[in-house]
Amino acid sequence: MNSRDDVINKVASAKSIVFFTGAGVSAESGIPVFRGKNGIWNKLKPEELANFNAFLKNPEMVWEWYNHRKQIIDQSEPNAAHLSISEFQKYFQNVSVITQNIDNLHRRAGSKIVYELHGNIERNYCINCRTFYNDDLPFEEKVPKCKCGGLIRPDIVWFGEMLPEKEFTSDEKAISGCNIFFIVGTSAVVYPAASLIYAAKDYGAFIIEINIEKTNASRIADQSFFGKAGDILPEILNLIKTKINI
Ligand code: OAD
Ligand code: ZN
Repeated sequence: MNSRDDVINKVASAKSIVFFTGAGVSAESGIPVFRGKNGIWNKLKPEELANFNAFLKNPEMVWEWYNHRKQIIDQSEPNAAHLSISEFQKYFQNVSVITQNIDNLHRRAGSKIVYELHGNIERNYCINCRTFYNDDLPFEEKVPKCKCGGLIRPDIVWFGEMLPEKEFTSDEKAISGCNIFFIVGTSAVVYPAASLIYAAKDYGAFIIEINIEKTNASRIADQSFFGKAGDILPEILNLIKTKINI
């Protein structure tokens, strides 16, 4: 067990930091998490909404759900956790964010290097010709269609689909050189994303978990802080600033 002071010293002297984040980092922005208390997957079935065959069967229902999520996301703002993560860039040279979230809040908070493992709700593409659409989504009908007639889908990684290769390779690179690997607000049960935690451990990073409760990652973390990310991250950042005399 490390003392809090040891942990802060370790972070303060790090050259390279990676934040691996999940839905919990956006919970305080009002975006619902997937699992646990009030989790989306307690009420809705992922196989009906986050799955390509389900989309082909009922694109209208899938679109209705993503439009509902988009509305929540559009009304949300980055919270203290996103803002603290972004502020780390002021004091450390190499800070990357690897997120499973599709909500863009890390970028909106000012984080510059953000790898989105599960896509982004602002992007969409045609399943036929792969033309990309952003805000120019043709929504005359409930299900937007491409100029070629193909169905347009959100650019979100659904269950059973591969992660974007470029993101995954860049992650590996960021992780291989990092001293500190923060795991923030993820249940760490969805693979291959969660495998990055084990990769970081293998590369020798010091692993710090921040979550409101114990997770699958708690066993392998060198240090866990239990509480809200929006409380704990600003506290950690303040302690670091004191250490490096800012
Ligand atoms: P989950 O919903 O599985 O887990 C959210 C985690 O955040 C849980 O461990 C909570 O305890 C924690 N949490 C909740 N509020 C918090 C707070 N204020 N501060 C800190 N922690 C908090 O979300 P993910 O792990 O991101 O995939 O889920 C992974 C993937 O499963 C998602 O990307 C999504 C989902 O199906 C796709 O859509 C492809
Ligand atoms: Zn098309």
